[in-house]
Amino acid sequence: MKRDVKALIQKMTLEEKASLCSGADFWNTKGVERLGIPQVMVTDGPHGLRKQEGSADHLGLNESISAVCFPAACAAACSFDTNLLQEMGETLGVECQAENVSMLLGPAVNIKRSPLCGRNFEYFSEDPQLTGKLASAYIKGVQSKHVGTSIKHFAVNNQEYRRMSASSNLSTRTLREIYLPAFEEAIRNAAPKSVMCSYNKINGVFASENEMLLTEILRNEWGFEGLVVSDWGAVNDRVKGLAAGLDLEMPGSGGVNDEKIVQAVRSGEIKEEVLDQAVKRILQVIFDYADNRQPDAVFDREKDHRTAVKVECESAVLLENDGILPLDPKKKIVYIREFAAKPRYQGGGSSHIHASQIVSAFEAAQRKNRNVTYTKGFPMDRDEIDTKEFEKAVNAAKEADAVVIFAGLPDAFESEGYDRKNMKLPDCQNVLIQEIEKVQSNIVVVLHNGSPVETPWADEVSAVLEMYLGGQGVGDACDQLLYGEVNPSGRLAETFPIRLEDNPSYLFFGGDGKNVDYAEGIYVGYRYYDAKQQKVRWPFGHGLSYTSFLYQDIRVTKDEFADNDSITVEVDIKNIGEREGKEVVQLYVADKNGTPNRPLKELKGFAKVNIRPGEVQTVTFTVSARDLSYYHEELGDWFATGGAYELLIGHSSADIRLTKKIHFVTDRQLPLKVTGETTVGELLEDARTCEMMKSILAQFQSGAEETADEELMVALLEGMPLRSLLLLGVPAQQIEELIAGFNTVCR
Ligand code: BGC
Repeated sequence: MKRDVKALIQKMTLEEKASLCSGADFWNTKGVERLGIPQVMVTDGPHGLRKQEGSADHLGLNESISAVCFPAACAAACSFDTNLLQEMGETLGVECQAENVSMLLGPAVNIKRSPLCGRNFEYFSEDPQLTGKLASAYIKGVQSKHVGTSIKHFAVNNQEYRRMSASSNLSTRTLREIYLPAFEEAIRNAAPKSVMCSYNKINGVFASENEMLLTEILRNEWGFEGLVVSDWGAVNDRVKGLAAGLDLEMPGSGGVNDEKIVQAVRSGEIKEEVLDQAVKRILQVIFDYADNRQPDAVFDREKDHRTAVKVECESAVLLENDGILPLDPKKKIVYIREFAAKPRYQGGGSSHIHASQIVSAFEAAQRKNRNVTYTKGFPMDRDEIDTKEFEKAVNAAKEADAVVIFAGLPDAFESEGYDRKNMKLPDCQNVLIQEIEKVQSNIVVVLHNGSPVETPWADEVSAVLEMYLGGQGVGDACDQLLYGEVNPSGRLAETFPIRLEDNPSYLFFGGDGKNVDYAEGIYVGYRYYDAKQQKVRWPFGHGLSYTSFLYQDIRVTKDEFADNDSITVEVDIKNIGEREGKEVVQLYVADKNGTPNRPLKELKGFAKVNIRPGEVQTVTFTVSARDLSYYHEELGDWFATGGAYELLIGHSSADIRLTKKIHFVTDRQLPLKVTGETTVGELLEDARTCEMMKSILAQFQSGAEETADEELMVALLEGMPLRSLLLLGVPAQQIEELIAGFNTVCR
């Protein structure tokens, strides 16, 4: 049905229009009965439905309906699988239709700047490319069922500490290259129905009233056509917000802010067209849902539980394995720690799902009559040693053929609303692992956590399997992976540093409460560890399999390409092991032109392929000029230097298997405005001014016959600003003329 939204708006009173710009209550928009505008419900998100029918809250404290808890984004991202994310999105979309929920509040795409952010479990990755592609797939999935999504939290909300007031301060380049691209990718390629602005300020301006973000970038540049909704309670000044591009305030202000909008229109502070525009966007989203209701949709919790198990099977990451895994079913195994019986499968806060069923790894093992016993070892919710349980665990370990220790973070250690204090596991866990090492050499550690932990025992144990917060099917998935029914294929979507102190944001994270300086700039995650050659525990993209793969024959359609063009890269991957398995092939790009301040390499593509033993699969990537580019602040745009680039195909960011040189040709030139401050070096580097600068330098070289002297001279002069030529005896008048001459050739 095609609605004439414009005609509808003309029939609305000013008060009705203003009232539509805020929620009726915690989860519903307002309706206008006389005009047939319905109320619709929105709900969290992202990895399941938190639909509250009783008392509402935005911190996940009160009860919600029984739903299916899928793996949180920290886990799902490790699948590196866009098809899987789309399938998860489709499943959630059907659930929303069945429950009459018009919009799911997710995905959450904030970049993992530090392992300490309490909400990292809800976020995908430290890498914007991976985040953007996975989020787009999720959005397409949900929205294919005519249910909206709300990509969040826009933007630069990378910590929980004072999230409602702190200002994230960063350079334009850092904003553009690290913190915005995931939003940009999703908006351009998946068109989410809504964007949720964050609580924080960005360079001193609240996200909820940030015109640069909400209008200039989001709408004018990326072409966003949906509505912008505030995070719950993120509105500071409602009228300013409306003018900046914030359409819908949630949950609403009991009419106070609606009235302010009415007054602002009446007084001429804001034009009525601005309000009409917001109302139009809100109505379009409401009717998109209301006119495409699928009342016959069924929330099949059993079926969706199986999907949750599948997503986790594809996402868990095998970090270490000396060959102990898969476990031999004939061997006597003991599972240690409560997480084996009561898994930690989701994080705290607004994404908290009332899970329809929870399967533990021990329960899954029992169902399959595995040769497994269980002992508690240490408590799941605190850092405390219970001597009796501790001894029981050590004794059980002594008598078994192998032990599986279920370690990880207690609920209270990470949650929405506050940040972690450190990157450590509770001491009691590290101590128990060390004690068990003394009596048992076959140790597998299974991890349940939403963000990296320090693992001082990593080199001493036989295997480490990272399950993250794997949703309600985590136990089933764990069982299938441990016993080899499923071949692990997850890859880390974030680096595990050895110690917290190694993380690039270590000195700046959290800030002083009012301001958080993103002083590490674009060097987030592997971009930093690479550049510093910093040893890490497990690198970005790492993950093992029960089979192995050979990378062969990298090919490109051409060696050279230009602006507005692209090239295709192909690579063959062979399964050289005994088992069928999935490989995640990663494409990184490196600028080889000596362009200052560029990461050594950046992820620009990834693909997951299933390969049978002996089989070869070809993986194809496309590389465009944007993939080679960095954001140039002065130009106000993306820019790739003409010249040499390297394509790197890897199994992880630290395990590059094949490389290929390509050449990029461009007509674009960076702006160069020559002043007295411009250095000799800058003028020598620029093709437009190089010859002219060289000939000027030649004037000072009379007497210096050796080339070495010439080089020395250039080296000395490189950093010299033009105005300092005075010191070499060039008269001021002549310097002015030189500057004018340079500017003529740069025009
Ligand atoms: C969170 C959002 C969430 C909203 C509604 C806020 O506290 O930051 O992610 O969607 O509450 O529960």
